[in-house]
Amino acid sequence: MSTLHTRFTRAWGLRTPIALAPMAMASGGTLAAACAHAGALGLVGGGYGDLTWTQREFQLALGLIAPKDRGRLGLGFITWKLDENASALDWALSLPEGDRPRTVMLSFGDPRPFASRIAQSGAKLMCQVQGLAQIDQALEAGASVIIAQGGEAGGHGASALEGRATFTLVPEIADHLARHAPDTLLLAAGGVTDGRGLAAALTLGADGALVGSRLWASQESLAAPGAITAALAAGGDDTARSSVFDVLRRMNWPAPYNFRALRNTLHRQWEQRVDELRANPDDARAEFDVALAAGDFSRAHVTVGEGVGLMRDAPAAAELVQRMTREARAALTQKAALLGP
Ligand SMILES: Cc1cc2nc3c(=O)[nH]c(=O)nc-3n(C[C@H](O)[C@H](O)[C@H](O)COP(=O)(O)O)c2cc1C
Repeated sequence: MSTLHTRFTRAWGLRTPIALAPMAMASGGTLAAACAHAGALGLVGGGYGDLTWTQREFQLALGLIAPKDRGRLGLGFITWKLDENASALDWALSLPEGDRPRTVMLSFGDPRPFASRIAQSGAKLMCQVQGLAQIDQALEAGASVIIAQGGEAGGHGASALEGRATFTLVPEIADHLARHAPDTLLLAAGGVTDGRGLAAALTLGADGALVGSRLWASQESLAAPGAITAALAAGGDDTARSSVFDVLRRMNWPAPYNFRALRNTLHRQWEQRVDELRANPDDARAEFDVALAAGDFSRAHVTVGEGVGLMRDAPAAAELVQRMTREARAALTQKAALLGP
């Protein structure tokens, strides 16, 4: 079994510096447990903070994870949704000590209002940011880990106006942390889809990577099989970032953020006319609802990032974690050989 060690693996008791992204409606308990068992960090996708979903999936993970691996289990939330309703976070933090999430990840909003109750529970805080401007808030909240999310990422992230690419964001934040908060760890997110990406993230100064899209296409994912099939036939040119699917899904996301998914037929129909769609969404929403119910992914959303062009199968999550680790080791070894004797 391949292993790869960084400050992140040592602090979390992992065998590889990979964290499963908390993906709303995809990162359920079975996927998180499979990642934890494979030596990665498994974050259940508490996503929009639905209490029933979170309770079911987190308890499922607890039942599947050996007590010795419980430290590899956590929960992720969309911060601006917690501002409206934090019942799922409060439920998780009030579990008996042995069952509580050891890690809570917050994305998309100000983490500070939730920091003290997370710290009091004993959980470590990870904060996903899309630019340097959000780092002070995350450090004030006591984040143990900053996740630098580039615009390549699947799902929500910063819009093109506000966003950055992983390749420059990660080293810039690595330098910033080295100067101002050297004990705070850094993960790269957005486009880390194979071992080359993982090796690149480490080379750019990250202590590991948060992986979404690649693990979304796995046997244990809760994603619809038809969506996974559509993704595996797509290339990196076939995704786009916009608000089209947020409007169609009636999701009231704050302005700096939008959503990367396959640029399918319904997306193309509206991508140049988002304001018009926003002003008069009823017919398009009806069309979208029918497509979603029918599993028609030429119209329903397929949530993946630019890394989709590097994904050609959907095996067990453990196989993906192992493969990425093995490939990253090989990439790092191969590059070291460039140094010569
Ligand atoms: C299907 C899907 C759902 C996601 N849902 C969430 C979410 O609920 N909360 C969150 O913080 N990030 C979410 N993300 C973004 C991830 O946290 C992460 O930044 C991203 O997956 C990394 O890029 P990658 O997809 O290229 O690996 C989601 C990503 C995907 C692909």
